[in-house]
Parts: sequence; structure tokens; C-alpha cells
Amino acid sequence: MMGSFVATNENDKEELALAVKKQENAAGKALGHLALHYKTPEDGPRAAKLLELMGMKRVQEIPFGGGVVFYQFAVADDASGRGIGTLYLSMVPPPLATITQAIRQALKVGTAQEHAAVAGLREGMLQDPEMMFHVGLMMDSLEEVERLMLTLRHANEHDPDLKGRLRLLCNKAKPGDAEIDARMQTSAVFGATPRHTYGMYGVQAFVETDLLAGGPLGESMVIELDFAFSSHPDNMFVKTIV
Ligand SMILES: [Fe+2]
Repeated sequence: MMGSFVATNENDKEELALAVKKQENAAGKALGHLALHYKTPEDGPRAAKLLELMGMKRVQEIPFGGGVVFYQFAVADDASGRGIGTLYLSMVPPPLATITQAIRQALKVGTAQEHAAVAGLREGMLQDPEMMFHVGLMMDSLEEVERLMLTLRHANEHDPDLKGRLRLLCNKAKPGDAEIDARMQTSAVFGATPRHTYGMYGVQAFVETDLLAGGPLGESMVIELDFAFSSHPDNMFVKTIV
């Protein structure tokens, strides 16, 4: 227990610092990386631009020929040297592109004979952007979530690389805390949405983009920006409170 250490001199302080560090690393693991795919060589730089607009840092990019580039991004600065918080971005590998195409053909996607399950999947995504595999980032500041969403809204309307390639959706905090409720009402991003989070004391902002492949039809991927109110350490991201 951290509380059992009492530092009385410099040696003790060092011992205390080591003990705390050991406790912090007690799990022995952290989420290292996620690998994302873009669909065409032309979409590579656009997808990279989107990640940068969302605040990710470009660590390196390696040209693979034919206009295909492998990118590495960092969600945040990682001083540990362990590769924590990495996003890899590469083009969909040919076997994956081939089977995705076979699935789309079998379901007659985009034709008059399209399988009814396709419309069901799309409707499901409209209702619940968390339905499929997606990426969630925990943000330190609500203002930063709002700033990013306003930036992306503008890019989706005006940036030639991103225009029409994003679908933005927000879940405001569930009512129950007067201060949070008032903050939501005046928010330029969350004020207008009728949608609420499932749990308490947090917000979610969803960026769905067809610049990234995902789901059984390979159509899109969602990157979620989350914020938890520090006034409630027991919030929806720590444990589910409904
Ligand atoms: Fe999520």
C-alpha cells in the first residue's frame, strides 16, 4: 500500500518514489497500438491529415511504392520508450481488400437486389456509432473535444481533402449534475444534440469516416473522443453507472 510509506530522509524519499512507480506499473502492461487501414493510395494522405487534425503526432512515414505509405502516429508523447499509444496507418492489404469485395458482391451492395442486412447495418450505425469495432480516445479537456469537433465540422464542409468524408455525432452528458447540465446547454458542440451518453458524468464525440476501412463491409471507422468530468471519479469510463 502506498500509504504505508513515510519518507523521513532523502534515501527514504527515493525508496518511496520507487515504490510508487512500481505500483503504477503493477499491471505490467498497457495498450500499445492499433492498426488502421485506408482504402486507396489517394486516401492515405487524407486519412493522415485527419489524424493530425485530431491531434495525433506523425512519428514517421515510410513509402511502400505505388503511392502507398505506411504511417506511424502517436496519440500522445510517450516517454516510456515502450511504444504505448501508437496508431499505425496503412493501406488495406490485398487479401483483406479481396474478401471485403467478395462480401460486397455477394450481398449485392449498392444494387437494387441489395441484401436487407446492409440497410440494417447502416441504420444500426446511425443509431449507435459504437456498434462496430472503433477507437476511443480519452481527452484531458472538454474544451479540446469541442475545439476538435468544430475544426472537423469546418473541414467536412470546406477542406477539399476531407469534405463530405466525415459524419460527426455527439452524446452529451446524461442529466443529473446541475453544473454539468448547465455546461452542456451552452456548449457549441453538445448543446444542440438530443443524444445522451448511456452512462453518467462524461461526454462522447464520434467521428465516423470513410477514409478508414472498417466493419464487415469495409466502409468506415469511428474514432471517439471522450471526456470524463473530474468532479465525479466514478464516471462512465471507470465503471458503468447508469
Ligand atoms: Fe466507444
